[in-house]
Amino acid sequence: MSLSVALTKGRLEKAAVAMLEECGYGVERLKDKGRALVFEDTRRDVRYFLVKANDCITYIEHGIADIGIVGKDTLMEGGSDYYEMLDLKIGKCCFVLAGMKGCDPLKKSGHIRIGTKYPKVAERYFTSRGMDVEIIRIEGSVELAPVLGLCDGIIDIMETGTTLRENGLEVFDTAARISARVIVNKASFKLKRDEVMAVISDLERIVNRDAEGNQ
Ligand code: PRP
Repeated sequence: MSLSVALTKGRLEKAAVAMLEECGYGVERLKDKGRALVFEDTRRDVRYFLVKANDCITYIEHGIADIGIVGKDTLMEGGSDYYEMLDLKIGKCCFVLAGMKGCDPLKKSGHIRIGTKYPKVAERYFTSRGMDVEIIRIEGSVELAPVLGLCDGIIDIMETGTTLRENGLEVFDTAARISARVIVNKASFKLKRDEVMAVISDLERIVNRDAEGNQ
């Protein structure tokens, strides 16, 4: 029975493909792919396709993909009709609360506005602190929003910290740690259990090996 694997395009892509290659999977074409989006495994009955992070969940929930590799940030903001099976420990970054230097939104009184691409994550973060804030949804370059005075702070992803630093922003809190996860369609987990678990075990072996190597 064939498997379909949805891979998130962009930042996670290279590291995810490298892990699949280390598992011995036939992913050579994914390394030199041009604009193609669908790839057959050259060794096994597996099809890979490249999707945007949010769409990875959609393809999994609709059963088009059996397995997906996607960031925890997307899972925290998106749907939940899938099984989260494995932390790949790649694509590590975190959600932070940041703002203009010396202007911590957590210490501000009165109306607080927070800019973010992740309104649900931001809402949960402030609600858990008993704070009622106005969330302003922003699609990208979130760091610009406090600089221009649109909001008092942002909840955004920080990887190297370069974007925050170069825009004069300060980190006030870490809201969550993030890494890439393997998710599985619920029906596939029942109907293709052996095939799905074989992929999970192969990936888990690489994760554990890397963890031992780092000790
Ligand atoms: C993300 C995030 C930050 C940046 C952080 O944006 O929203 O802007 O990466 O990375 P750094 O800490 O290494 O500087 P992304 O590049 O995904 O694009 P965006 O501008 O569309 O948000």
